[in-house]
Amino acid sequence: MKTSDIQIAFFDTKSYDKAFFDAVNHQSQFGFDLVYYTSRLNERSIRMIEGAHAVCVFVNDELDTSLLARLAKMQIPLVALRCAGFNNVDITAAAHHGITVVRVPEYSPWAIAEYTLGLLLTMNRHIHRAFNRVRENNFSLDGLLGFDLHGKTVGIIGTGKIGRCFARILQGFGVQILAYDPFPNNTAAQELKMNYVPLDRLLAESDIISLHCPLTPLNKYMIRAETLGKMKDGVVILNTSRGKLIDTEDLIEALKSRKVSHAGLDVYEEETDYFYEDRSNHGIEDDNLARLMTFPNVIVSSHQAFFTREALRNIAETTLENILAAMPYMDEDMRQLAAAAVNKLQAMTDSEFSEREFILTDEE
Ligand code: NAI
Repeated sequence: MKTSDIQIAFFDTKSYDKAFFDAVNHQSQFGFDLVYYTSRLNERSIRMIEGAHAVCVFVNDELDTSLLARLAKMQIPLVALRCAGFNNVDITAAAHHGITVVRVPEYSPWAIAEYTLGLLLTMNRHIHRAFNRVRENNFSLDGLLGFDLHGKTVGIIGTGKIGRCFARILQGFGVQILAYDPFPNNTAAQELKMNYVPLDRLLAESDIISLHCPLTPLNKYMIRAETLGKMKDGVVILNTSRGKLIDTEDLIEALKSRKVSHAGLDVYEEETDYFYEDRSNHGIEDDNLARLMTFPNVIVSSHQAFFTREALRNIAETTLENILAAMPYMDEDMRQLAAAAVNKLQAMTDSEFSEREFILTDEE
């Protein structure tokens, strides 16, 4: 079997996914047969992929027991997630059906950490409102009063790759950093001057709280009325992790009572029907999402913290490497080809790599 005989079915594909995956597939000479579908993977769309050897999915494709059973029945042995989080795949069911699940554990923690800081600076200095205001020739400053970050306390929940990048970026701001993680990293704590404390203390003492932990069955709604009640009045909440870490209705109440002064949300607990889609011709049926967007001190963005050129290239490279490494049909020739492709990719500088021709092709 040649790599060109291996068909990978992509779901929930956007033009940028296609551009970066085609560029990597072509420039590395992986040479897979990549087939792109815009729909999500579900009970209906799964019918299209007879003959595929792997599926490649994203954050909002829900792979539950029954969908995984269908994949097993179709003898598709591999699910490649082109993202870090895997809360949307029933891992136990996948193991039960003998399906391998691979993901991209790290593609650019900086992308997410830098975006988190962007949300914070935009909100605390009202830059989003200033941008709109001056465009209407309104140059007044009323309502735009911000606060210095210098001297404030930032609480980081989850000090993995992204949480640590965020702490590193904060080093220049003169803030005190409190951290909570069930698995503290003492070397990082020393280097980044982070003080690990119990969660309740972090909640009580932080002016800004930023979530950087995965969503697990244990921490759903870790930010809810009870935990919000333990926080300082006027606390700033940042969530670039997963929507279900926050009980949105409780957050709305806390925004109404001004317990929470600002919320920067790149994720939302019911984002699946909205994020990544152009819904400008439809109303928003989700009352909580609509309510959140009425607050001038809330920024909602469409799960875009990962969205940098560097991250998309890394995602495409790691996903195709993962597929090669996990594919059961590999023979020795293919393994050698895979190793050559991976070496070629690793040697390719940013200026040598280009997704542009694929973007143009896609738009034509
Ligand atoms: P990581 O695996 O390197 O670190 C996660 C850390 O969270 C670990 O240190 C772990 O011990 C800790 N943790 C686990 N449960 C916890 C809890 N209940 N309370 C506090 N800490 C806990 O993961 P990484 O790469 O830093 O990513 C973090 C999360 O960011 C991902 O799980 C994903 O949900 C989200 N993410 C969001 C993106 C976006 O575009 N908005 C893109 C990529 C990731």
